Amino acid sequence: MYNTKILGTGSAFPEQELSNHELEKVVDTSDEWIRERTGILTRRKVSEGEENSDLGAAASKKALEMAGLSAEDVGLILYCTNTPDKILPATACIMQPKIGAKNAVAFDLNAACAGWVLGLSVADQFIRTGAYKNILVIGAEALSRFINWNDRNTCVLFGDGAGATVISRAEKNEESRIYSTKMLSDGNYESILDIRFGGSRFPVTEERLGQPGQYIAMNGREVFKFAVRALVDRCCEVLKESDYMVDDITWFVPHQANIRIIEAINKKLEIPMEKTFLNVHKYGNTSAATCPTVFDEAVREGRVQRGDLVLFATFGGGLTSAASLIRF
Ligand code: ACO
Repeated sequence: MYNTKILGTGSAFPEQELSNHELEKVVDTSDEWIRERTGILTRRKVSEGEENSDLGAAASKKALEMAGLSAEDVGLILYCTNTPDKILPATACIMQPKIGAKNAVAFDLNAACAGWVLGLSVADQFIRTGAYKNILVIGAEALSRFINWNDRNTCVLFGDGAGATVISRAEKNEESRIYSTKMLSDGNYESILDIRFGGSRFPVTEERLGQPGQYIAMNGREVFKFAVRALVDRCCEVLKESDYMVDDITWFVPHQANIRIIEAINKKLEIPMEKTFLNVHKYGNTSAATCPTVFDEAVREGRVQRGDLVLFATFGGGLTSAASLIRF
């Protein structure tokens, strides 16, 4: 059995920016309301012709460069997204030639916003057993393509972006590893956060075109309650299994959905905000991309050092929640 480490990180965002003030012109909202309720000031949005897989490819190239690897060294591409380029084939396959990872098998993982942490755990299993040595785990979204711009309950929350990580086998003398990941889904909450149309239950028909069902719909209050409860539980579970205390954590990397959710979790777990990475104010909720992008920023700023104990925690549609404790 081998240990797993994060060898490289990268992120990419579209250039087009959409500030709260610009949204004030689109729906009945205000910069003040959005900032106070969510902590979001602005977000990025893909332009015409720009694809989710373009963002994923750009982030992956940066992660591979940091790892000192070529794309041909990658054995597996795990593309975590709930806004794929197409229903078929996997966005992982669409991205593969964009980076030239010709020796890899590529598939998607859809666990909504929780995707990247679940992807990290899947990659960990393949590394531990020796099946693969280098795996690209990408969390990437083009959520703006699934937004109802008439719905102020959702359109102010989301943004586009991609984070990529090279997950590799750790050498025997290295302390880097993934200690534990805990994940849980509750499909009874299927419909409190969903995109109803476009799948095989409600395929797109002429009659359905233009109806709200083709966009993201959410019961925000219910998601909020679930998120706080579930994340606190998952974090406690990984700490218990790994035999660490909250005080041992060097950095906390929570899903960047909403600053109030993060503050509520930190308060319950007694994690100081100074130990918590944030980018929700700049990019909004980029779903599966939040954890890998905010972590990449911290790595590139030199805040995270090798040997640091890092706790990732996330939740998303499903509803699914997950936490992972790693030694960087
Ligand atoms: N601008 C102005 N007013 C708004 C807006 C807006 N953009 N959106 C909603 N409102 C109104 C509502 O219509 C409501 O008005 P009413 O009382 O007249 O009906 C009022 O504001 C209050 O609505 P609440 O739902 O009570 O507001 P709340 O304080 O709960 O904040 C929010 C809403 C931000 C969505 C919050 O519930 C939340 O953050 N929930 C978590 C959802 C989340 O983070 N989802 C994304 C994560 S999901 C994922 O990552 C997979």
